Amino acid sequence: MKVLGVESSCDETGIAIYDTARGLLGHALHSQVAMHEEYGGVVPELASRDHVRRALPLLEQALADSGIAAGEIDAIGYTEGPGLAGALLVGAAVACSLGMALDKPVIGIHHLEGHLLSPLLSASPPAFPFVALLVSGGHTQLMQVDGVGQYKLLGETVDDAAGEAFDKSAKLLGLGYPGGPAISRLAEFGLPGACKLPRPMLHSGDLNFSFSGLKTAVLTMVRQQEAGSNICEQGKADIARGFVDAIVDVLVAKSLAALKASGLKRLVIAGGVGANAQLRAALDAAAKKRGFSVYYPELAFCTDNGAMIAFAAAMRLQKHPDAARREYGFSVRPRWPLEELG
Ligand code: KG4
Ligand code: ZN
Repeated sequence: MKVLGVESSCDETGIAIYDTARGLLGHALHSQVAMHEEYGGVVPELASRDHVRRALPLLEQALADSGIAAGEIDAIGYTEGPGLAGALLVGAAVACSLGMALDKPVIGIHHLEGHLLSPLLSASPPAFPFVALLVSGGHTQLMQVDGVGQYKLLGETVDDAAGEAFDKSAKLLGLGYPGGPAISRLAEFGLPGACKLPRPMLHSGDLNFSFSGLKTAVLTMVRQQEAGSNICEQGKADIARGFVDAIVDVLVAKSLAALKASGLKRLVIAGGVGANAQLRAALDAAAKKRGFSVYYPELAFCTDNGAMIAFAAAMRLQKHPDAARREYGFSVRPRWPLEELG
């Protein structure tokens, strides 16, 4: 079965084709980062308009990469939510009109299910069950994943998401958007321990997170340094280092606690923050020390992409062959709890 996937929930347009017999055939992606950069964050209306511009050329590119004709596609999956309403509507409209034109069934996919299953696209995929740490710009959750559609929420952030904390703290340090990669690079030049930031909820006894206090701590440190003199590059790097060390400590500690609570030995990292080098190094060290396995999506599939949507749609259709529809009216779900999936 060949499934086309369309992702447009935020600031990346992604189109891909996954074949259950041969794997990923091709994928095409356009990131809007450069366009949103000058505004310091995603501008929803601009995002929607850009998805409109990019979708069809990316579709052609993905088909050409795959070496198949549009008519050979068996089903089309698109991100139905959660995400920006206008952006989601573009992908849904493209997928459903294509389905109608080609007379192929369509299926709405949960964006986070795409992220959760994305490590299964890699060369040595994890087996079920596993604990997943989902760390993206909009979400921070620990889930127990027993199979496709079998997701149990173990803990989540009570305020900002991890990616949001990276982006907001980077902004306070005068770094560009998105801040995650920038603050991570700057942290490499910082002195460990020079700026000690709090580890929120580290000892809360549950599997929840809180990151808004970290951003406030970064703001306080930036102000303190500015009061002394103009904030210097080394000072900024030290704050970045303190921030990254704090957030990584919390993410690792809670992931270990989730493994312990569930009795599982496999940890899967998904979502944009999963691309973070310091987080990967700390998790690899913990896995070696404590004897569990850790799995990451390929770097290209950490942040938003069409491949994870094509793959999630294929997995879902294998489990529920009747889930695809030949009704081409559509709606989107900007808010959609993952646990509603079956
Ligand atoms: O999963 P994603 O592409 O989009 C959402 O579904 O939200 O995640 C984007 C988030 C942004 O907050 C970005 O700053 C963060 O992932 N991110 C990183 C890194 N690369 C992306 N954060 C830390 N280190 C990175 N290398
Ligand atoms: Zn995402």
